[in-house]
Parts: sequence; structure tokens; C-alpha cells
Amino acid sequence: MPQNQPSAVRPVSFEPRPVPLSATLAVNEAIARKRRRGERVLPLGFGEAGIPIHPALTRELGAAAGRGGYGPVAGSAALRAAAAGYWGRRGLPTDPGTVVAGPGSKPLLFALLTALGGDVVVAAPSWVSYAAQASLAGLDPIRVATPPGEGGVPSPALLADAVVRARARGRDVRAVVVTLPDNPTGTIASEATVRRLCAVAREQDLVVISDEIYRDLVHAPGGTVPSPAQYAPERTVVTTSLSKSLAAGGWRIGVARLPEGPFGRALRDSLMGVASEIWSSAPAPMQHAAAFAFAEPPELVEHVDRSRRLHAAVVGAVADRFTAAGARVVRPEAAFYLYPDFGPMRDELEAAHGIRTAADLTHLLLERYGVGVLPGSSFGDAPAALRMRVAPSLLYGEDDEQRLAALASPAPASLPWIAGALDRLSEVLSDLSASVTAGEPALA
Ligand SMILES: Cc1ncc(COP(=O)(O)O)c(C=O)c1O
Repeated sequence: MPQNQPSAVRPVSFEPRPVPLSATLAVNEAIARKRRRGERVLPLGFGEAGIPIHPALTRELGAAAGRGGYGPVAGSAALRAAAAGYWGRRGLPTDPGTVVAGPGSKPLLFALLTALGGDVVVAAPSWVSYAAQASLAGLDPIRVATPPGEGGVPSPALLADAVVRARARGRDVRAVVVTLPDNPTGTIASEATVRRLCAVAREQDLVVISDEIYRDLVHAPGGTVPSPAQYAPERTVVTTSLSKSLAAGGWRIGVARLPEGPFGRALRDSLMGVASEIWSSAPAPMQHAAAFAFAEPPELVEHVDRSRRLHAAVVGAVADRFTAAGARVVRPEAAFYLYPDFGPMRDELEAAHGIRTAADLTHLLLERYGVGVLPGSSFGDAPAALRMRVAPSLLYGEDDEQRLAALASPAPASLPWIAGALDRLSEVLSDLSASVTAGEPALA
């Protein structure tokens, strides 16, 4: 063969490491495929806030669009000071030197797990990515059930036991991840539970990673969230972002608040090392917009307030429909999720449709009715528990005009496009229970 000729094409002989698509993104794609085929769908799977970006944020982003430089790894001084002020107003006085910014809280969480370098406990159920990230980091997440009705926090009594047993098996358990308020259940652990969790974290020498991305979306006006950073400040890292309260998930910007003191400084150094090798710095224009947002100007406070009312109204209406259909639902107190349990209909669902697991049930809902929801098993719940996460926020509107009308409405659940979706949901749920009663075969 002449010297400069490429050699014959040779197919790669090995498979890349299999990493499944995040369950939330996967259900989104399944719904989009059905929509393209012209099928009727109810998109209740994806955890998107479903409201438009506020024009003041767009303006700030535009003003900083010319910032092409990398900037400091930890984030700009302006963003770190604004985030420190944000936390200070929530009872967590913060030195800007303890704040690290990143391209969303998701990569910050992964970088934290990498920096901590030990095994991690996550709640069962809990947000899909904690366990997936732990696995990517080469760790085997330890799942601990939450107390009844208090999602997001592993039961403190079970946590101590799980850590002692894991250590006896040789595992180097170093951290516990909590979600306050919680995704997937929309509930908030009580102050007493958070205090007990912190006491166990101290006894067992664990770092607490507190994901507080839904903190500003508590439904009750003036409602607060207990943060482990209040009760175990020396060992708690808090993360948040603009993705949920300001619906800027696609902008990819988040912040972490590290503990003060020698451990916090060492963790910061390590986190910065990881950040410097993966994302270098958070996007500069986003940092500028986020500094504006974390300073909480009145127009954004009002916007978040309206979105909180919208989430409360629609998630409450959806919860009512599930309850009316016979599911057990713990009333959500925050965010835009609910976690109905079809356990009370288990025997009938098995007899009529052969349903034995949450995945069987969500598959039936998707294929037969075009309803996209996620099985509890995607969140680490027991596969046989007939629970699912329902995220109604994509019902707010097909376009920004409808979404703005929903934000402005005193009774958003009565707007025709939302009421229509709610009625369709009731129809599906009553058909499911009617076919349960009639004993119809699955996937008719
Ligand atoms: C509990 C929780 N944490 C983190 C994230 C990711 O947020 P970000 O967009 O800041 O990466 C999500 C998004 O769904 C979430 O639900």
C-alpha cells in the first residue's frame, strides 16, 4: 500500500461502557415520538418548571453575551457574593469564599461526590441522578428508605444502622445526600427529622449534601425549609440553581455552598480541582445573569411567587384526580411533583392487566393512553411498589402566551388547556379503574 494511503476501514471491536439515558430524559423522548406520530399525549414525566424565562433575566444575559473569557474556576466574585446574600436571607450566613459555581447543580453534585471520594447514602426514593452519578463515579449507592410522608431524607434511624452495616462490610461511607424539598414526592422532611439526620451524620462522621434546588417553591406563602446547614454547618454542603424557581434549566448554572473551617476548605480545593479539569468555569454570561437573579430584585421575587402559586394550584388539582381514582397520595407541599401510590388497587390491576410492578403500570399508561409518567423504581423505590412520579408542569401551556396566562391566572386549573388536560387525566384514570373492574386484557 502506498505510504500516504489510509489503511482499510476496520470496525471498532469493543462496545463503549453502557450508560443508560437518564429516565426523565428518556420519557420525554418517548412522549415526543408519540406526538410526532400525531398521538394524543399527556406529558407528566419531565421535571421542567414549565414557565417562561423572565424578560429581566434575558436582558441581563444579553448584556453579558460578549463575555467570552473563561473566568475564575470558583465563579465570578459578583456571583459568589450574590449567592452568599441569597443564602444569608434564608438564615444561612455565608462567606462568598465558600461558594463555588458550576454549569448547573447536577455537575456540581457529581464533582462533590468525586471530591469526597467515598461511598454515599441516598434516600429511597430519590432523584434519579444521585444513584446514577454515584455509579458513574465507581461507587455503589446505599439506599435508605425515607420516613413515611417525608420524602428526600433517609430515615435517621435506618441511616445509622445502614452505615454501620456497610462499614462492617468494608465500605468507606462518607456522605449522605438529601433533597429539601423533595423530588420525586413534592414533600418536605420535618425539622425534627432533619435535626435527627444531622445528629446521625455527626455520630457517624458523614458529610451531608443538601440539594435545595426547590427551596423557593414551597406552596404555603412564607413556608420555610429546614436545612441541615443550620444544624450541622461544619459538614453540610448546600446546592441550588436557577433551573426550577426561575425555569432556567437550559442555561446551565448552579452554585454550591461549602462548610467553613479546615474540612470545608479542603473540600473546596478538591472540588475546584475537579471543576478545573471538567468545566474550567461556569459560562460567564450565565454567571452575570445568575448574580442578578440571586440578588432577588422585586420583579423576580414576584415571578417566583406567581410560579409557586401556579405549581401549587395545578399539582393540587392533579393530586385530587389521582385520589378520586383510588390512588393514595401524600399531598405535595412544594415543587411540581406528586407521587401517587396505586397499592390500594394492586389486586385488580394484576387481575385485569397483569401489572406487578410500577414499570408495568407506567408502560400501560404510556402505551395505551399516551400518559408519560415515571415509575417509582426509576427513583430507587421497590419495583413492586405501584408508585409513580407525576410532574404536571408541562401542562401549563403549549407556548409562552399560554404559560404567561397560566402564571397570571388566579385559578389556573380552570384555564381551558389545563382543565382539558385534567379532564383527560380523569378519563384515563377512570378508564383504568373501569377496565380493572371489567377485567379487560392489557394493552387493548
Ligand atoms: C432534585 C434535583 N436536583 C438537581 C437537579 C438538576 O438541576 P440543574 O439544572 O441545576 O443541574 C434537578 C433537576 O431535575 C433536581 O430535580
